[in-house]
Amino acid sequence: MRILVLNGSPRPGGNTKQMVNSFKEGAESAGHQVDVVDVCRKRIGGCIACEYCHTRGKGVCIQKDDMQEIYEMLQNTEMLVIASPIYYHGISGQLKCVIDRFYASVSPGNPSGLKKVAMILSSGDADMYDGAMFSLQGDFLDYLGLENMGVYTAHGAENGSLEKLEELKRFGASIR
Ligand SMILES: Cc1cc2nc3c(=O)[nH]c(=O)nc-3n(C[C@H](O)[C@H](O)[C@H](O)COP(=O)(O)O)c2cc1C
Repeated sequence: MRILVLNGSPRPGGNTKQMVNSFKEGAESAGHQVDVVDVCRKRIGGCIACEYCHTRGKGVCIQKDDMQEIYEMLQNTEMLVIASPIYYHGISGQLKCVIDRFYASVSPGNPSGLKKVAMILSSGDADMYDGAMFSLQGDFLDYLGLENMGVYTAHGAENGSLEKLEELKRFGASIR
């Protein structure tokens, strides 16, 4: 299956990206196609709530920025992975902008191949995931009706550890 990872960390070799890389390695070994978008390397503005997409735009966002390539990828993706460092108890602001822009065309009534979701989260401290979990439950499971494939977290010394990266690799390899 095609898997799209939206990586919200700005650090190229950071803790989140290491987990993403291990996940990708595992998933590719199981025959999946994994696309990773480092959203902090993109020029993607926040939703401006103009409602163009829900009126004249008919599902097309008025902002012509790098979000256009993500809209296209979302149409051909079966599984979405939200990967992010925890910033002030939530996902990074850059990634939040991307998710807010789903408003234009990713909705329950919209035919798209998107069926599954997972999260990969990195933090300094333990038990920092309630904000991200609230979004997973409310936005992705309840609202979009996606299947929960799992939440993988690392905090403190777990970040970058061999055990954690192996866990992410096994997760990727286990996807069916
Ligand atoms: C702006 C900012 C806010 C942060 N807020 C939190 C926080 O609320 N709780 C926490 O445990 N760690 C927090 N951290 C630490 C990061 O979540 C942690 O270092 C993480 O491993 C970074 O992942 P990365 O290497 O992929 O960027 C914050 C870091 C930054 C830069």
